[in-house]
Amino acid sequence: ASITLQPEKAKPISKLLLGIFFEDINYAADGGLYAELVQNRDFEYALSDKDGHDPNWNSYHSWTLRGAQSTFAIDTTAPIHPNNRHYAVLDTKAPGAALVNSGYDGIPVKKGDKYELSLFANQLSGKSGKVLVRLVSPAQSNNVIAQTTITFSGNSWKKAQAVLTATADADSAQLELQPLTAGRLALDMISLFPQATFKGRKNGLRADLAQVIADIHPRFVRFPGGCVAHGDGLNNIYRWKNTIGPLETRTPQRNLWGYHQSAGLGYFEYFRFCEDIGAEPVPVVAAGVPCQNSGPSPKGGGQQGGIPMNEMDEYVQDILDLIEYANGDIHTTWGQKRAAAGHPEPFHLKYIGIGNEDLITDIFEERFTMIFNAVKKQHPEITVIGTAGPFFEGTDYEEGWDIANKLKVPMIDEHYYVSPGWFINNQDFYDKYDRSKSKVYLGEYAAHLPGRPSNIETALAEALYLTALERNGDVVSMASYAPLLAKEKHTQWTPDLIYFNNTSVKPTVNYYVQQLYGTNSGDTYLPGTISLSNEEGKEISIDGVKERVAFSIVKDTKSNTVIIKLVNLLPAAVQSGIDLSGLGIAEGTAIKTVLQGRPDSKDARPLVSDYPVSEKFNTELPAYSFTVITVKMK
Ligand code: AHR
Repeated sequence: ASITLQPEKAKPISKLLLGIFFEDINYAADGGLYAELVQNRDFEYALSDKDGHDPNWNSYHSWTLRGAQSTFAIDTTAPIHPNNRHYAVLDTKAPGAALVNSGYDGIPVKKGDKYELSLFANQLSGKSGKVLVRLVSPAQSNNVIAQTTITFSGNSWKKAQAVLTATADADSAQLELQPLTAGRLALDMISLFPQATFKGRKNGLRADLAQVIADIHPRFVRFPGGCVAHGDGLNNIYRWKNTIGPLETRTPQRNLWGYHQSAGLGYFEYFRFCEDIGAEPVPVVAAGVPCQNSGPSPKGGGQQGGIPMNEMDEYVQDILDLIEYANGDIHTTWGQKRAAAGHPEPFHLKYIGIGNEDLITDIFEERFTMIFNAVKKQHPEITVIGTAGPFFEGTDYEEGWDIANKLKVPMIDEHYYVSPGWFINNQDFYDKYDRSKSKVYLGEYAAHLPGRPSNIETALAEALYLTALERNGDVVSMASYAPLLAKEKHTQWTPDLIYFNNTSVKPTVNYYVQQLYGTNSGDTYLPGTISLSNEEGKEISIDGVKERVAFSIVKDTKSNTVIIKLVNLLPAAVQSGIDLSGLGIAEGTAIKTVLQGRPDSKDARPLVSDYPVSEKFNTELPAYSFTVITVKMK
């Protein structure tokens, strides 16, 4: 094969092309990226579904009382805050019993590490009290890994804090709180964080997971969903204002994926994470309608329809307030709240998504238009991303695009979960796009095989399609694989990019494709042509075979490099000559990274090596492989 460039036809690529989409699905937030170790710390678990109430999800979830001469009950008479109504009351006749939290599949603890405990206590009888706080490992009876005593006084809610230092490792410890004084003690917001969160942030993120995400080098983060953003009924729409401010004042809610959202990882924390990893924040808010706003919801449940028209002004204002929260100066109402949370500088929000994969109906259009017009008028500096609606193999996005064209929406969010074959056969999907219309954000995509594995076949289909996205980097502004995270044994959707449990993080082969694109992005696309030959040097020109080999060559001004990406989805190696004449490359050593394996391989990993290059060189594309060659320019 040979690749010949046409540098005179070079065109710019979006600076944001590769990003991530974070949704609280598969325990991605609570029990996942959010570093809180205590499950149901606020006693607010209450999962009600369309049929009413699920008895397994209640205020007692994850809590038990160990020992005698005490009782444990839930009360709502005098809460810390009306948004956080439930709290525990321990009635201790004689000290000895303890309230125990089992964490999310246990509490992982590392020897020598420090853990920050905080809680609110109210000694309902008596004036002062003490609680013995311990981390115990049930693996060995009464094996105490860490302990401290906290003292509090007065019969009103007071916050207490302490640091526990672990003296041993444990994969599955429990947190025990044992009152040392008889009487009635109310407890709430019982929280335990590792001190070593990502970037050492308070109320922060799990360091190893956040780091693996940061290692993709994403240019943007879309959050908080997905379906989570629009909810499965009017009462389940994600309201950003419920997720900011002191933790004890936030409003937790049912997660439509079948568990609970504490709102501890809320809008402030999302913005801060984006800043910490140098990514643009791309929040998505509901377009005034919940999931599948009319007709029966394929995902089930919830009240259908849209936000009533007489409540829409208030809803639109909420969205304008979000922009002020992110960008307003500290003298604005919402900018002041951001400053109070510890971030007086703005978060420099530039994009906002309105709607997620909604059915495009009149109910939707009316509400979307109201929001779009208001944001455009008040904040012309913000790029609004509309939704193209649901996509299934064989359909198109006609209605979503009709609205986008009518309103001149600057960018439109498309989603597709399709077979590897679809990706291979539709590499020209964006080549055909009308460049005068909205830009595209491919907000969710993944190659799905029957049984939904993550393997070399799906990873290479995605890598191959990403060459087409780079080629169309003038119209496709952003792209993000979905979903990002999944906790083992708590997964509602497969495949996902990164699996994890309490102690380890397990990136898939597909992750490495994302990472190779994220760390090898460019600002200019250099078009070229490829002709393929087989091992005997005979030209391959069979349609459909040729389409299983794809390439993309980009220039990155910042690192002064030319980056060549080559995907071979054929079962045989392909030899290719590459002609970089006229580009001004520095002859010498390039870096070559190859991800290769059998189509069903799940554990292939990229191999990096030095690679000698000159203006014209030959390279082999192994069977089922993704190769990235980074060449320095003079
Ligand atoms: O990524 C999982 C789900 O797929 C998202 O929540 C939704 O937008 C899509 O249907």
